[in-house]
Amino acid sequence: MTKLDQNNLPQHIAIIMDGNGRWAKQHAIGRIRGHKKGAQAVRATVRTCREIGIQYLTLFAFSIENWGRPTKEVDGLMSLLEEYLAKELNELHKQGIKLTTIGDIDQLKPSVKEKIISAKKITANNDKMILNLALSYGGRDEIIDAVKQIVQDSQNGIINSDEINKEIFSKYLNTCEIPDPDLLIRTSGEYRISNFLLWQLAYTELYFTKVLWPDFKKEDIFKAIASYQKRERRFGLTGEQLEEKLLN
Ligand code: IPE
Ligand code: IPE
Ligand code: MG
Repeated sequence: MTKLDQNNLPQHIAIIMDGNGRWAKQHAIGRIRGHKKGAQAVRATVRTCREIGIQYLTLFAFSIENWGRPTKEVDGLMSLLEEYLAKELNELHKQGIKLTTIGDIDQLKPSVKEKIISAKKITANNDKMILNLALSYGGRDEIIDAVKQIVQDSQNGIINSDEINKEIFSKYLNTCEIPDPDLLIRTSGEYRISNFLLWQLAYTELYFTKVLWPDFKKEDIFKAIASYQKRERRFGLTGEQLEEKLLN
């Protein structure tokens, strides 16, 4: 297993879990069965991140754009989500994991939404890791919603437009209680963001792997983190400035 530096772990990992459909095609089975296998990879990944000591794990499970897929596939994904929540809740709770979501869960099937609300309540006081599921989520939609809310608050005298800055704007996003991701992983060899966390990824380290999501294993997470640990995060400064900062 790849060795990790426990003193330089990403606090927040976000994953675009892609490639279930292609995995199914490779195995000559239907797409839903690919998603089912993908759900197993979710279980393993959550467990691994919890073991390593990752504090925040955000998983892109369903995008706003995914609503445009064939009804059968959307229904299959919703059923799998419901099944995942029902089956995993005890385990998540036992591991001290708190469940949160970003995206518009009002768009989900009522039975799925209820399960999410109840899982959030049950796990609300857990503090070992936050598992944040992006459901019916779109980055641009999130930004527009924030702008609408700011305009409303400004009209109601709650906020003054002169005070709006990056920190205040962040507080209007779905991720208001979560730090920006340190590491973004996308599987399946696609090199794009697909409307995920557009604001939050400003200084995130990006890691792309050809591995299809259902094949994503513990060692793949380790490799991604090891790659992250080799990077120098400069945030616009020079390498020399960073070295100086480290010395002081
Ligand atoms: C990711 O796998 C799961 C979702 C987007 C819900 P895909 O279903 O996108 O798999 P590919 O990209 O077709 O292989
Ligand atoms: C992104 O994957 C969304 C999720 C992983 C839930 P997609 O498969 O929907 O993205 P595109 O269509 O390839 O950009
Ligand atoms: Mg895809």
